Amino acid sequence: MLSRNRVVLVAALFGLLVGTWSVAPRTMASGSTTVRGERGVVVSDSREASRVGIKVLNQGGSAVDAAVAVAMALAVTLPEAGNLGGGGFMMVLPAPGATPVCVEYRETAPAAATPTMFRLGESHLGYKAIGTPGTVRGLALAQRRFGKLAWKRLVEPAVELATQGFPLSRRLAASLNRVLADSAAFAEFRRVYGKDAGRAAWQAGDRLVLPDLAATLRQIADSGPNAFYQGDIARRIVAEIHAGGGLINAGDLVAYQAHVRPSITGTFHGYQVCAPPPPSSGGIVLVEMLNVLENFDLHRLGPRSPPTWHRVIETMRRAYRDRAAYLGDTDFVKIPKHLTTKTYARRLAGEIDLRRATPSEALAGDIPLAGESPHTTHFSIIDADGMAVANTYTLEQSYGSRVVVRGAGFLLNNEMGDFNWKPGHTDRRGNIGTPANVIAPGKRMLSSQTPTLVLRDGRAVLITGSPGGRTIINTVLCVLLNRLEFGLSPRESVDAPRWHQGWFPDMVRFEGVNDPRYAETVTRLRAMGHLFSDKAARQGSAHTIWIDPRTGRRVGVADTRRDGFAAAQ
Ligand code: DON
Repeated sequence: MLSRNRVVLVAALFGLLVGTWSVAPRTMASGSTTVRGERGVVVSDSREASRVGIKVLNQGGSAVDAAVAVAMALAVTLPEAGNLGGGGFMMVLPAPGATPVCVEYRETAPAAATPTMFRLGESHLGYKAIGTPGTVRGLALAQRRFGKLAWKRLVEPAVELATQGFPLSRRLAASLNRVLADSAAFAEFRRVYGKDAGRAAWQAGDRLVLPDLAATLRQIADSGPNAFYQGDIARRIVAEIHAGGGLINAGDLVAYQAHVRPSITGTFHGYQVCAPPPPSSGGIVLVEMLNVLENFDLHRLGPRSPPTWHRVIETMRRAYRDRAAYLGDTDFVKIPKHLTTKTYARRLAGEIDLRRATPSEALAGDIPLAGESPHTTHFSIIDADGMAVANTYTLEQSYGSRVVVRGAGFLLNNEMGDFNWKPGHTDRRGNIGTPANVIAPGKRMLSSQTPTLVLRDGRAVLITGSPGGRTIINTVLCVLLNRLEFGLSPRESVDAPRWHQGWFPDMVRFEGVNDPRYAETVTRLRAMGHLFSDKAARQGSAHTIWIDPRTGRRVGVADTRRDGFAAAQ
């Protein structure tokens, strides 16, 4: 293994010498997109939410206290993904030297759900697609285990934001206008989130005030999470879902539990990589890919070279094949143990043809992938004591099911869409029917959320994660390779164009596909048989913190693909 210092030096020289192969930052660093600090750092999708996080740290709260407050604030300021009515995964390093764990608060299928309740091609907006929400229980569990401040203090900033309102960014105004125009069937959504109940268009700078949501948050602050699962809010949720023909009932809400689960942990060049266990596929697939890639000297090949990306793409293809074949909720399915072993990774690495692309079909049957949507949200936090949090949570699609609980002001997820919809039916266009992720009552749908902590000698050095559906795991892989393998700076590691191959569709997605600086790379990979999508769609939003292992100095990097905001104590 090369020493990491040497790696960084060689990469810097390489960048200078081979100008056209260097990775140029997309934007200049500024206070809001890159921060440096010695104590607490918060990087999230929202200026208001990041500021709430810093305020909680300044009040003596831990990174988990800040995470709870940030998640509650995002439920107000980022309605497309921040949520009370969804679920997610929070990776926590409780202290330097301690064992990282995952607070898992994924939604569940209601008791009345059946394996064949959806038809292929059916929209997954609306009541049937709602899973039993996990966010409020998950945040409460995290606060009980790792918090120092009272629950109420962590929810109150969100109450304040919903009561006072906040200015809409250009991006959020446009996103609300777009989705409201297409939401005639969702009257409460239009009433609560529309300007003049949807009759006027939002402009950047308009204030969004959410009085119903403020009242809901006030109840959660004063009465605790049970208000959501058993009290007044629960009654409203059940009434809303019954009125709309959905399946969730009072019993589903009462029965919902969040869990603290052991992290999936792997090693990569002497770093420890910790990411969520099932029901997320993130930890297993990420560790499997890193294990395979350790068998190649990617550093020597370089961060722009076709041979590097050939190896990475082929690795992605094989790991995503395993994802489709084996992964699901471990309360219901048994997952083979070998997927994260170095021995298995050596075998997979040996099977890669180094000269040409392997058609995905050759890797066993045809199991393609379902569509993605661009909205989930990830944030990263570290406190002055070294407690670290990587949290990803979501409503699944942008604004979830678009069902707002009447009078309660919040959106419900449409996470049932993450199950395999038609048992036994797999095809090349995007449907998986393998048994591991078929719907069952109480089961958690398979996720790709991959909030990740990378440790060196027990201390966090990298905190990252992303939205992006199935692309999430590959986004995290790209960030890790850029920093740990190629020695790019933290900013460059986030900015560099990202790659995705997900087994099926048999297609490579690459943000730089139309960038002349990558033309030669793409041409050479095409010549090896890789099929590229011509669309240079943005991939993910990886709000990241790097902590220098020698000095402890922190760099918070907001991903400029969205309105990210980095703040330091
Ligand atoms: O849990 C999952 O993998 C998906 N529901 C995440 C959806 C997502 O990331 C959409 N947005 N970018």
